[in-house]
Amino acid sequence: EEPSDEKNHQTQRRRISAPTRLPLPQRDAPARPSPPFQLPFQLLSFSYTPERELVFDDSALRYYIDPPQRADLTYRYDDWTKREEERGRLDGLLRACVRDEVEPERVRANVITWRGILTKILGSPYEDRDSWELNVMSVNGTLYLEEHPSQAKLADMRMTDTDPKRRLQTYFGYSFESYCTSEKPPRTMTREEHDERDWAGGWGGDVNTNVQWCSVVKTKLDNIRVLCGGEVDCVRDRYTKQPDTFVELKTSMNIRRGNDVDVLRFEKKLLKFYLQSFLLGVPEIVVGFRTPAGELTALESYKTIELPRRVRGKPGAWDASVCLNWGCDVLRFLHRSVSRDSDSQNLHDEKDWRPPVWRLKFEPRKGLELRRLELSEVEDE
Ligand code: A3P
Ligand code: MG
Ligand code: MG
Repeated sequence: EEPSDEKNHQTQRRRISAPTRLPLPQRDAPARPSPPFQLPFQLLSFSYTPERELVFDDSALRYYIDPPQRADLTYRYDDWTKREEERGRLDGLLRACVRDEVEPERVRANVITWRGILTKILGSPYEDRDSWELNVMSVNGTLYLEEHPSQAKLADMRMTDTDPKRRLQTYFGYSFESYCTSEKPPRTMTREEHDERDWAGGWGGDVNTNVQWCSVVKTKLDNIRVLCGGEVDCVRDRYTKQPDTFVELKTSMNIRRGNDVDVLRFEKKLLKFYLQSFLLGVPEIVVGFRTPAGELTALESYKTIELPRRVRGKPGAWDASVCLNWGCDVLRFLHRSVSRDSDSQNLHDEKDWRPPVWRLKFEPRKGLELRRLELSEVEDE
C-alpha cells in the first residue's frame, strides 16, 4: 500500500527534494563507444526583426559572402544597435513549438531546449571555468530546460555591457558576421550591388544584434528525442530548408607561429565550436582570425564532422564521445528525477496545476547537483 496519510506524504516529498548529484566522468575512465546521434531535421525557422519582434518568416536569413581581406572589425562600433541582455527564457522556442509544423514532434519529444543549453551540458566534462544553472520542468513526460542566470552570470553580463574592452571584443564577433553575410545570395547580386558593397568596406549595413535567424530541429541522441532551436549565422549559396548549407561564423585570436599555447587554446575552443554546430546539424564553420586590435588576418573553413579527428590523441585533447555519453547520462538522470516526480503527482488535469521546477547546478570539475525548488522560490522567479 502507498503511504496515504499527510505526514508520510510530507516525509516522502522532503526526501525527494534533497539534492541528488551526478559526478563528472573520471578523465581517465575507459572509453565508451559514442551513442548514435541522428542527423538534425529542420521543422521550422523564424526570425527576430530589427526591433526584436519574433516573426515566423525568413526575413533574417543571410547568405555567406567572403569578407574583404584585412577587414577592420572595429568599423562602425559606435553605430552598434546592441540587443538588450535577455534572461534566456524559452519563450521564443515555445511559440515555435505550438505551430502546426512542430506540434506533433513536441508531443513526442523527450527534451525541449535551446541549442546553447545542450552545448553547455555536453561540453561540461571539459569545462574548467564557467559554472551554470538551469531550470528544469517536466510536462507530460517532456523535459523543458531553460537557463537560470546565477548571480555570477548576471555580474558577468553586466561586465560585458560596461567594460569597454569586453564590449569591443564582443563587437568583433558581430562585425565579422556582418562582413561575411549578405541579404541576397552573392551569385544573384548585380555588379552594382557588389561594387556598392566593396565601396562600403565590404558591408552595407549597421550591426543590429536584435536581428537573428533561428532554426528549430528534431534529432535523437541515442534513444532520446530532442527538439532544439538555435541561431544560424548564414547559409552557403542556397537555402534548402534543411541544415545542409548552414554556416557558423566565429572569430578567434591569431595563432602565433610556433606558439604551442596559442594552438592549445584554439583546439580547446574548437570543442565549443564543434558542439554548437553539430547539435543543429551545421556542417561548416568559418573562422576569422584577428589581431588583438581587431584586424582580420586570415580565414579558415572547417568541416564540423572533421574537428574531433583534428584534436584526437593530442595532449589535453577533448573526445566528442565523452561529451555525447555524458549528455545521455545527464538527460536520463533528469528524466529519472524530474519526470517521474512530476508525473507521479498525476494532477495535470487540475486547473491550477503547475509543474514543479527543479534547479540543476553545474560546478566545473565537479559535476551536477539537482534539487526541487520550494514553491516560494519558484514564485520569486
Ligand atoms: P565570436 O563567436 O566570433 O566571438 P555566435 O558565434 O554564437 O554566433 O555568437 C556571435 C557573437 O556573439 C560572438 O562572436 C561574440 O562576439 C558574441 N557572443 C556570443 N556568446 C557570447 C558570450 N557568452 N559572451 C559575450 N559575447 C558573446
Ligand atoms: Mg551567431
Ligand atoms: Mg557565430
